[in-house]
Amino acid sequence: MKVVHTIEDLRDQLRGQLRVAFVPTMGNLHAAHLSLMRLARQHGDPVVASIFVNRLQFGPNEDFDRYPRTLAEDIEKLERERDVYVLFAPDERELYPEPQNFRIQPAEALGKILEGEFRPDFFMGVSTVVLKLFSCVQPRVAVFGKKDYQQLMIVRAMCRQFQLPVEIIAHETVRDADGLALSSRNRYLSVAERAEAPQLYGLLQQVRDTLRAGRDDREAVEADAMRTLRTRGWAPDYVAVRRQRDLQAPTVQEIRAGEPLVVLTAARLGSTRLIDNLEFQVG
Ligand code: PAF
Repeated sequence: MKVVHTIEDLRDQLRGQLRVAFVPTMGNLHAAHLSLMRLARQHGDPVVASIFVNRLQFGPNEDFDRYPRTLAEDIEKLERERDVYVLFAPDERELYPEPQNFRIQPAEALGKILEGEFRPDFFMGVSTVVLKLFSCVQPRVAVFGKKDYQQLMIVRAMCRQFQLPVEIIAHETVRDADGLALSSRNRYLSVAERAEAPQLYGLLQQVRDTLRAGRDDREAVEADAMRTLRTRGWAPDYVAVRRQRDLQAPTVQEIRAGEPLVVLTAARLGSTRLIDNLEFQVG
């Protein structure tokens, strides 16, 4: 695997390659990332990964400074798996050589709901850096995990609406045996919190099962779920049942008619904010 830190070296390595499969990451790689790389390999060649902790997508009170940076270990893991041909690991000056005055901002209906309500600049930061990375790597396909469900939808919409010649491939959420979705932020959890953390996925399953059992007062089901989380010591931002296609709230008729749904949640356990989601249909 070649490790490059500059856009010039990246372009040298990729000259003439038309089938690049790309996996952007913020590093601190775990099994889910490695699985994204494997999926990328099925969809293109060569596989390019990037590691860049993007300041633009962190809010002022978020964990940019303490976000784990583990480049040496990440390189070892990627070397071992042998799926990645080039790792692009730029520093901030390389990717943001001047103040970023042009920024991509997803419209309210997609960018300011759910995660966007609680992290106002998050999707601006993600969209902007993903567009920059796409322009550096020029991939034909790129792989994103479904754990960041709204991010995946926003990146897809950005590619569609800007006619970017990049196909976005979704990877299923990878979970530990007890159901906890893998995330770099899991390492912040104390032993007691780690034992509690799988309950978040359990709760999503409960919401699904409740709706499948015939309850269609969606908002009451969401409120119950928030209460359950609070009782267990979580501080939830939202539990929301939405349509898969546009993340808007489904009507009762749509729920009953088998509209593809997703229940999404974000909740803090101690000082760690976890997100998760579950796709399902009723009937
Ligand atoms: O999902 C992530 O790790 C990041 O949001 C991404 C897509 C690499 C952009 O910084």
